[in-house]
Amino acid sequence: MSTVMPSLRAYRASLLHFHADPAFAEHAYSWHEDGLLLVDGDKIHAAGDYAQLAPTLPEGVEVHDYRGKLIVPGFIDTHLHFPQTDMIASPAPGLLPWLETYTFPTERQFSDPAHGREVAEFFLDQLLRSGTTTAMVYCTVHKESVDAFFEASEARGLRMVAGKVLMDRNCPEFLADTAESGARDSEELIRKWHKRGRSLYALTPRFAPTSTEAQLTLTGELARAYPDTFIQTHVSENRDECEWVKSLFPASRSYLDVYDHYGLLRPRAFFGHCIWLDDRDFARMAETQSAAAVCPTSNLFLGSGLFDFERADVARVPLSLASDVGAGTAFCMLQTMNEAYKVARMKGSYLPALRMFYLATLGAARAMQLEGTIGNFAPGTEADFIVLDPQATPLLARRSAELNNLEELLFALALLGDDRAIAATYSGGRLVHQR
Ligand code: GUN
Ligand code: ZN
Repeated sequence: MSTVMPSLRAYRASLLHFHADPAFAEHAYSWHEDGLLLVDGDKIHAAGDYAQLAPTLPEGVEVHDYRGKLIVPGFIDTHLHFPQTDMIASPAPGLLPWLETYTFPTERQFSDPAHGREVAEFFLDQLLRSGTTTAMVYCTVHKESVDAFFEASEARGLRMVAGKVLMDRNCPEFLADTAESGARDSEELIRKWHKRGRSLYALTPRFAPTSTEAQLTLTGELARAYPDTFIQTHVSENRDECEWVKSLFPASRSYLDVYDHYGLLRPRAFFGHCIWLDDRDFARMAETQSAAAVCPTSNLFLGSGLFDFERADVARVPLSLASDVGAGTAFCMLQTMNEAYKVARMKGSYLPALRMFYLATLGAARAMQLEGTIGNFAPGTEADFIVLDPQATPLLARRSAELNNLEELLFALALLGDDRAIAATYSGGRLVHQR
């Protein structure tokens, strides 16, 4: 590294990032206990041992000293609703009453762009303080809500995926689009926002019960016309919802099969929840490289059910973790891991912390087909990373004094940590949050 690189910055800390899924590969990650992360402008330049990389630094490059802390790639949350920020922790006995009582009235306010912008700013602050640098975000049925969201995320230079909710039946009239207007608005938003800077668009049919066959047909056509867009929706979350779908689509073999019928299973398609899927559904997701967004805090909060990690892994379904705010009860992916771990235990399986950190970083990036762009510290990837503090609280500090290995460190962070453990968040090489 003899050439002068004035944009080079260096961060000294323990470093962890993944190259493969630790559930299936032996050498899945790189761990540098005394590590150095080199950032060139907005991209990762190198990640390795301090002793090896420090001598290669050009003169004058300042080393930010984060010793005692752990740097990992920024967390990726593959399913949450920015308009539901203000109604997080709203009590209701299950999904359908929760939607009726709180969600729809709250989302109504997003016809006002000024309101959308104000909530988007708070929401992004909340993500960044929680260590999440990329998220797949539902807006509302109003196209103004998408503009509000992307304007705010673009101003901060964040890598975000979002889309306008499509919903043309079984909802209040004040939140309904039509098959035609929904498709027209979606296409307009794709042309405006998809791949503009770091913004990416997701076709967002809310869930099968709130879309007519005409709307699902047009959404499938858009998914084919714009194959590098994302798709996001909900599937098999709650038993009452599953019964409802059965009555609305009697010809479909399963709930997932409704989406399959309209061409909505494909790479970059993310299905929230996936609680009540059968083995044929999981096999079909794997075959089409459709991904599951697993939402443990939401599923426990609403009493929806327990995701079956073991069956999903047998089928090799692309997996990711998600908060599902506002049904999810925390923005921070550490808290999402905490409850994912317990959900796995309740199903008789075991999720190591290493696997959960993989799922919240490279696993999600792979499911999004964004490996090489985000998710680890390969040279040339976007410099989105976070600094975790194992001393963040008195209890974490006390537990951290007794650690024997990396798994125990990650496990303590996941089970005891929250946004207080996020010492700093960097996006595109820029400091965007500091405690
Ligand atoms: N199903 C349809 N809409 C929603 C929503 O907003 N949140 C959750 N958790 N499930 C849904
Ligand atoms: Zn959701």
